[in-house]
Amino acid sequence: MFGATSILGKAIDSQFFIITGICVALFSIIIFLMLYFSFKYTRKKNPNPTDIEGHAPLELTFLGLSIAIVLLMFYLGWGDYKTIREEIPKDALAVKATGQMWVWSFEYPNGKLSNTLNVPVNKPVRMNIESRDVLHSFFVPAFRVKQDAVPGSVKSVWFTADKEGTYDLFCAEYCGTNHSAMLSKAVVMSEDKFNGWLEGKAEAQAAPPPPGAPTAKGDAKKGAELYSSKGCVACHSTDGSKRIGPSFKGIYGTKVKVTTDGKQREITIDDEYIRSSELTPNADVVVGYQPIMPPQKGILSDGEINSLIEYIKSLK
Ligand code: CUA
Repeated sequence: MFGATSILGKAIDSQFFIITGICVALFSIIIFLMLYFSFKYTRKKNPNPTDIEGHAPLELTFLGLSIAIVLLMFYLGWGDYKTIREEIPKDALAVKATGQMWVWSFEYPNGKLSNTLNVPVNKPVRMNIESRDVLHSFFVPAFRVKQDAVPGSVKSVWFTADKEGTYDLFCAEYCGTNHSAMLSKAVVMSEDKFNGWLEGKAEAQAAPPPPGAPTAKGDAKKGAELYSSKGCVACHSTDGSKRIGPSFKGIYGTKVKVTTDGKQREITIDDEYIRSSELTPNADVVVGYQPIMPPQKGILSDGEINSLIEYIKSLK
């Protein structure tokens, strides 16, 4: 909770403490006066109540003071709000963040994809936040940065992380069944280390590869990478465990019951079925699962679907 690790985050913290300080001070003064007067003017000490008239100058003073305090809070907040919204440094590193049910992916200017947000220390970073399906919200509490991901538009927010380390990254907008699992990490590293990572020399603290990935070769290996970066991992396991969707392990070539147009039928999982499951996932839904997979039309190319098919085949 304490210790923001971004430059703007520290400004936000100090505002928070100023506003809390003002509230605590006013609260204490009011409670103190209330107790003081109720003891001072008890019925015993003052048996005949006096009729107290209004006092215009005093009331105006209180009114003026209250307005001044509220305006001071507004003034402080407005300054930082403008910095966050409008004064994005031109030289900021642009990272595209894409939210989808239920995974974050980050794309760097050189095309590098990652499921963890890796950023250099003491450098401004501009997040261009998009969504592929529903509302999500990009939230890194340690940076004091939060921005909704809205389908059909790009929202920007920026920060300068000033301390190396690994911080939590959340989705902060309820986006469906697996919202609570839509987690990632923001890793702040030295500039050298970051550049090495960006050029692919070191996979510094990247997300662990999914089970089965290291042994995959060729097209299947590409498929394994897509499995992580395109978010399949959020709903389909590769170890046989049940998630939102069926596990990929050993699924290729098996017969399953699906619901097509409200009727059940049996099909064999082959290339054709996987392809149609990617493009029109809700046409034939495996019995026991919900028709909630987002269609991948326009998201996955034919070649990428083939790689995924090879990957699923490799998961024996
Ligand atoms: Cu995405 Cu909650």
